[in-house]
Amino acid sequence: MASVAEIWMRLAALPRPSLADLFGGADRVESLCASLDLPGGPIRFDWSKTHLDRATIAAFDSLAAAMDFAGHRRAFFAGDVVNATEQRPAEHPAQRGIGRPDSVEEAQTYHERMQMLVEAIHLGALGEVRHLIHIGIGGSALGPALALDALARDGSVVDVHVVSNIDGCALESAFAACDPATTLIAVASKTFTTTETLTNAASALEWLSQNGVRDPYGRVVALTAAPDKAVEWGVDETRILPFQESVGGRYSLWSSIGFPIALALGWDEFAALLEGAAAMDRHFAETDGAANLPLRAAYADQLYARLRGCQTRAVFAYDERLRLLPSYLQQLEMESNGKSVTVDGQPVDGPTAPITWGGVGTDAQHAVFQLLHQGTVVVPVEFIAAIQPGDTLDPAHHRALLANCFAQGAALMAGRHNDDPARSYPGDRPSATILVDDLNPATLGALIAFHEHRTFANAVLMGINPFDQFGVELGKEIARQIEQGSASFDPSTQALLKAAGIAG
Ligand code: F6P
Repeated sequence: MASVAEIWMRLAALPRPSLADLFGGADRVESLCASLDLPGGPIRFDWSKTHLDRATIAAFDSLAAAMDFAGHRRAFFAGDVVNATEQRPAEHPAQRGIGRPDSVEEAQTYHERMQMLVEAIHLGALGEVRHLIHIGIGGSALGPALALDALARDGSVVDVHVVSNIDGCALESAFAACDPATTLIAVASKTFTTTETLTNAASALEWLSQNGVRDPYGRVVALTAAPDKAVEWGVDETRILPFQESVGGRYSLWSSIGFPIALALGWDEFAALLEGAAAMDRHFAETDGAANLPLRAAYADQLYARLRGCQTRAVFAYDERLRLLPSYLQQLEMESNGKSVTVDGQPVDGPTAPITWGGVGTDAQHAVFQLLHQGTVVVPVEFIAAIQPGDTLDPAHHRALLANCFAQGAALMAGRHNDDPARSYPGDRPSATILVDDLNPATLGALIAFHEHRTFANAVLMGINPFDQFGVELGKEIARQIEQGSASFDPSTQALLKAAGIAG
């Protein structure tokens, strides 16, 4: 078998046909566009407007074999330690019923507990509950925020406000929208040590008490993998919803961190989210080579990041309901794969995760697409849209939305020559399109799981560990030192602290 370095050299030396040339071949769409039949309806994954071709895919298949992709995937689903630096498995699929039987069983037990609490609250066990302030940050906020923004537009049993920022403006906006007498507070933190979350939670309790709630702690639900810490903080055990340590923060939407989703939409909807993700798990676990759609997407990601020097990738949701998807994917991809060392602790020999960014179509067309069409950097773009509209207005809205989405992909690829260089479009710019038939809990679950597995596949191809995040620690530590006044800093930082009246 060729070595990894030889395969990368082979990949780098392959001819580079343009997208126009690639579409000259007969079966381009058939071979790079696939539809998965999922519980919530089909999702079409069209990677035909990327520069993947037969030769590139064959070379990436060899790379996957050389990196033992199949072995890593087996270990991942078996619940083996795949996060070597922290000596942990990464068992988010177990939350969806796929994985090591013990872990699946434990997740089911925790889900049953969560379902009981959700249904008890719906039945009035905690009095009238009209609002929930969900306090968490990073993975403890982004998933619930995305799912609720996407799925709770037609109304929900409980009105949820997700608050993450330690900036008091965020919490104050939630207070302004809630009636303290009918508000519950969910404190969502895997570790139950995160400063932003605990500070916001303390202020929320204060707000309840200042507004006539006699037992503020009685209004708190804790969602955590550290139940002891939640008890110590003052939460009653009956309102603690635990989850397993082996579920990483940015993969925790499926665990009790999803409590606000179940409370707002009902248990069946949350279960459908899990079911959609499980269907994607099965596809990822059981499909080999480039027919495996998350792996195919990772081949394209590697092609652009490592071989063509693309430092960013952009995601545009042509669906208002998915406007938070780009920020969700930023954490998933950049916190997972923004690394500089391999699993063996050696420096990586090429770029790792590109910067994920994006926005919502059609807004982004009037803001950033200029650069995508005519800028000097090539940005691989991903479009996500749904065939069924989320609105009930004149169908002209949705038709125009989809027409714009497809037009952008076509324009990026085709370009257009003009004798005036300022009016010329180079074309040959890659994009992929994910077309969901209907956006519902199951297809959203599948969509998120697709990106989780794609991120994992990228990590395996690069030989890095996607499941730790030590890069976030240093800044936290320095912020603590500033708070405690326990260290001296560089002159610029000292001057800033002095200017803000914090220290110095
Ligand atoms: O600082 C990064 C991080 O650890 C994320 O990985 C995590 O999602 C977030 O902070 C919140 O952590 P916790 O859920 O423990 O409060």
